Order: sequence, then structure tokens, then C-alpha cells
Amino acid sequence: MEKKIRARIIGTGSYTPPRRMINADFEKIVDTSDEWIVSRTGIRERRIADDDMTTSDMAVQAVQRALEMARCTHEDIDALIVGTVTPDYKVPSTACVIQEKMGMPNAVAFDNLAACAGFLNGLSIARSFIECGVYRKIVVVGVEKLSSITNYKDRNTCVLFGDAAGAAVVAPDDSGAGILSTFMKSAGSLRELLWIPVGGTRNPYSRENALNGSDKLRMSGSDVFKVAVREMCTSALKVVDDAGLERKDIALVVPHQANIRIIDALTKRLGVGSDKVYVNIDMYGNTSSASVPLALDEANRSGRIKPGDHVVMVAFGGGLIWGSALVRW
Ligand SMILES: CC(C)(COP(=O)(O)OP(=O)(O)OC[C@H]1O[C@@H](n2cnc3c(N)ncnc32)[C@H](O)[C@@H]1OP(=O)(O)O)[C@@H](O)C(=O)NCCC(=O)NCCS
Repeated sequence: MEKKIRARIIGTGSYTPPRRMINADFEKIVDTSDEWIVSRTGIRERRIADDDMTTSDMAVQAVQRALEMARCTHEDIDALIVGTVTPDYKVPSTACVIQEKMGMPNAVAFDNLAACAGFLNGLSIARSFIECGVYRKIVVVGVEKLSSITNYKDRNTCVLFGDAAGAAVVAPDDSGAGILSTFMKSAGSLRELLWIPVGGTRNPYSRENALNGSDKLRMSGSDVFKVAVREMCTSALKVVDDAGLERKDIALVVPHQANIRIIDALTKRLGVGSDKVYVNIDMYGNTSSASVPLALDEANRSGRIKPGDHVVMVAFGGGLIWGSALVRW
């Protein structure tokens, strides 16, 4: 019988800028406290890129590390798929900028805009390309310089976000390992719960609306919270079910790191032990599309993931859009 070709993650990499911003730093700029931030979000610090570091600069570092682990050259790469809401330019895509910086002469490079679900959306596209035989070696990236779209006068949002990059190299494999199932879903009717109202064709950028902060991220935190818990749980269970597995088969859940209370609620609803859920939100905050690949890379490099483990990744973000993937490592 012919063996099934699956898309397998053969290398991971990540990068976080060295500059740390701790909760006490926010006490100096908005009416908040370390106690409020830790108890309501689980965040203790986040990384902030310097002004001259771009989104693509961070991605290059993460991609290079993933390529080294995968033992791939830049020439091997057929496709580069980048999830970001903080591109270097409106045009061209950040993927094309990364391609030029790294020299990937044989690749097609493009961005996908799925906010915090951007890495999983890219992974799901990569899986389809590989299972259809369109491309063989694909780099999937999640990268954000969220500090560039954060309103540091708004205490409701500014304490939450950080900058980072994460990447994975995906290739065909017929050993039984690889991506067993993926799921993506969106609800455009909820788009104003998490958005940037100004800067596109609907409300073009002006000096006036830049001054009132409407060119930065806005969020209805408690509404997003409720949908996030519900849909992340449904998405995680769907990929487990689609793969013909059960909750007890999950070795590790790698959730989007938006809020420790969302992660705790997800853990409870999934009925898995907290030792099976990867958490690093305390160190990096919410890094949007970089969050899942950053956590995945840390878990991979620290030995938390063993060959044969079933790993569930799940994310949720502005769109609203959410999704999940189940990987046999
Ligand atoms: C943002 C979030 C942490 C706020 O926590 P919350 O418990 O829902 O808090 P609320 O929004 O109900 O606000 C409660 C109070 O805290 C205040 N508050 C908000 N941010 C604060 C801060 N940084 N410091 C101190 N007080 C703050 C609010 O102004 C409000 O005060 P009020 O009652 O006087 O109006 C939480 O809703 C959240 O994490 N939501 C999901 C965010 C998310 O996942 N986003 C990205 C998806 S990818």
C-alpha cells in the first residue's frame, strides 16, 4: 500500500529582541500596577525591539535558526509564508523582504494576514501545498513588531503586547509522523472587537486620527476573552477528533499566549493536566502570530517534545480568526 505523504515540521527557530520592558516600567506611563498586570494577565515582562529593528530583521534570525535545525540551505526552500500584522511595508510583503535578505532564489514568498492565528494559518496552507505535491520545503513564519502598533497611552492594551519572531521548516514525510489535522475558522462580524480603525481605505491615515490613537490597536478585552476561551477549546478538540485521537493522547498543548486566564480556562475545559500545556506568557506577553512558533521552538529545544508525541497548537486573534493543528512529532 502506498504510504501517506504528510507535512512534517523538521526544524524550528525563534528570536526575541534583547530589550526587556517589565511591568514596573508601565507604572511610570499609565495608571496600572505590577499586581494588576500579573493577576489579570500572567505577564511579567515583554521584549521590545529597538526603533531600527524591523519585523523582517527579527524574522531573519528565527528563520536562520529553523533552517539550521532542519539542515536546509536557503536554495532548498520552495515557499516562504509569513504571518504578520506589522509588515515592514504595505507593499511588498514582508515575506519578499525576508526572501531578499536571506537569498532564497527558488522560493515564492507571500504574507498571510490572520493576526495571532497567522502562524497556524500559514502552517495549514503549507500542509496543503505539501500534501498536494506543489512544494517540498516550506518555511512558515509568525513575526510581529507589535510595539509599532501599540498605543502606550491606553492601559487596557499597552501592557499586553511584545515583539518576537518564530519559524518552522515543513517538508514531506511518509513515516507516519507530521501534521495529522488542521482547522481554521473566522467570524468577520466580530472584526471590531480587535482592530486598527485607521490606515486603510475605509479610514485613511491623517495627522488628526494619529493624535487620538486610532491608528493603533483597539480591543474590547472582555468580549475577546469569552470568544477566545470558547473557540480555542472547540478548535483544539476538533483536530484531536479529526485525527482519530482522544484527549488522553495529547502530550503537549502549545496555545497562543494571550492571557494566562485564557490558557487556564482552556486547560480546564480540555481536561488535560497543566503540565501538558506550554506557558511562556510571563516572559514575552502576547506576541500575536509569533506566539505559537516561539513557544513551539522553546518546547522543542528544551526537550519537552519527544518523537511520536501528539502536539496540539491552537490560536485565536483579530478578524476574529482562530484555528488549530495536531502534529505527531
Ligand atoms: C485585557 C484583559 C486583560 C482585561 O482584563 P479584564 O479582567 O477583562 O478587565 P476589564 O477589561 O473588565 O477591566 C476591568 C477594569 O480594569 C481596568 N484596567 C484595564 N487595564 C488595566 C491595567 N493595565 N491596569 C489597571 N487597570 C486596568 C479597566 O479600566 C477596568 O476598570 P473599570 O472597571 O474602572 O472600568 C482581558 O480582558 C483579556 O486578556 N482579554 C483578552 C485579550 C486577548 O486575548 N487579546 C488578544 C487576542 S489575540
